[in-house]
Amino acid sequence: MWKIVFIVLLVIFAVSRLFSSYADVPEVPNIPTDQHWGPGESRIVNTNIRPFKIDVPKEIIDDLNARLSRTRSLRKPLDSAGWTYGVNSEHLQTVLEYWRTKYNWTERQTLLNKYPQFKTNIQGLDIHFYHVKPTVPKGSSVKVLPLLLVHGWPGSVVEFQKIIPLLTTPRSNNDFVFEVIAPSLPGYGFSDAAIRPGLGNAQMSVVLKNLMSRLGFEKFYTQGGDWGSLITANMGVLFPDSVFGIHLNACFSFAPSATIWTIFGSFVPSLTISDEHWSKMYPLSHHWSRMLEESGYLHLQATKPDTIGTALTDSPAGLAAYILEKFSTWTNPEFRFSKDGRLLEKFNIDELLDNVMVYWVTNSITTSMRLYSESFNKAHFNLRIDSIPIHTPLACAIFPHEIFYQSEAILRSRYANMIQINHLPRGGHFAAFEEPQLLADDFWSFVGLIEKKEKTTQKTGKSSEL
Ligand SMILES: *[C@@H]1O[C@H](CO)[C@@H](O)[C@H](O)[C@H]1NC(C)=O
Repeated sequence: MWKIVFIVLLVIFAVSRLFSSYADVPEVPNIPTDQHWGPGESRIVNTNIRPFKIDVPKEIIDDLNARLSRTRSLRKPLDSAGWTYGVNSEHLQTVLEYWRTKYNWTERQTLLNKYPQFKTNIQGLDIHFYHVKPTVPKGSSVKVLPLLLVHGWPGSVVEFQKIIPLLTTPRSNNDFVFEVIAPSLPGYGFSDAAIRPGLGNAQMSVVLKNLMSRLGFEKFYTQGGDWGSLITANMGVLFPDSVFGIHLNACFSFAPSATIWTIFGSFVPSLTISDEHWSKMYPLSHHWSRMLEESGYLHLQATKPDTIGTALTDSPAGLAAYILEKFSTWTNPEFRFSKDGRLLEKFNIDELLDNVMVYWVTNSITTSMRLYSESFNKAHFNLRIDSIPIHTPLACAIFPHEIFYQSEAILRSRYANMIQINHLPRGGHFAAFEEPQLLADDFWSFVGLIEKKEKTTQKTGKSSEL
């Protein structure tokens, strides 16, 4: 009886929300483009773009090794727990041992410095970025297109080491190629962190848009996963005239209507999803309990980032455990049943530690986690930016082990101009890091669609439908 009453109430609530959300598409929020996030009130704008190389002082590495050699003995994992209680401490020991005795930062730092890096001050923060130009033969007619490539948490620009050359090397069957700008998000790695509250994902979109303007790019392509996906998708709302196309490898709609359709779909699946993909979203009880199981970190970071941040800032073992757990489970949820988290199935230990090092040597784990607090709060929800449809040409590359799946029908309610949607054959959350070739190919194909359209438009003078 109560169950029926509950369902009826839910449906009434849902229907009313649905109609009210259709009735009013929120206005595009007005986010100041000159908000100052750095110290002081100084409005003096230093527009210098300075070359940058990673050069970590020896004392930091010595201190790290001293801490690693004093790691307390970790409690044994429960019998056959794998990584289901979190990181497996026995496996973590072997990672820590490798980190202390074999991992060579001098060599790794040289590799990370392989691509040109710069810093420039945007809204009071020094923003770090790779800027990699393509190798185009002189006199060639290949068009160079700017691409803003954006990482998320707990990632960094380390994730892009393998995909960058796949984007900056011309392909014989395409007459375009990319000039890659891959920034460290504010508060992440070598970019400065805000010193006052309020720098959420929408405000970060403004910072990165300003970065592109600083570099002289008034219109560009974007690619992103995780926070990079939200931050670049926001650009389609805030700066539709500045983006040619948005390519995402994590596609979400956080509009209230998406939740409502998801619930409707559990009664009438044909409303939301095809049979082929049904099990990726339903039964809801299964997927929602999985989501609860995996999202504890999110609640923590969205509420008390500085508390957990203290522990992770002070202990390299803790930091590695916290970050590497995500690289296991988010790459493939099945990996958590193995003692070694099958971490090395898709990554090598050096590149995994490079990413941990970016957080360690810059002491940025706390500031990186604050992005959750700044994005899951009233101020952000009141912007209602997640409920505004995006009309920019957009692509979703859906990797089978992505942590969260929404059907094409649901995605289309947010991404009004999704011109490409592909289900990729393998890969998880860290697509650029794990499957650089698949992701790069998917991106090239998306840009091919837009550029072809562009050409026909120029030839025929007809306006583009994109
Ligand atoms: C690390 O690599 C550098 C450069 O190859 C080398 O000179 C140095 O001896 C290595 N350090 C260790 C501890 O192996």
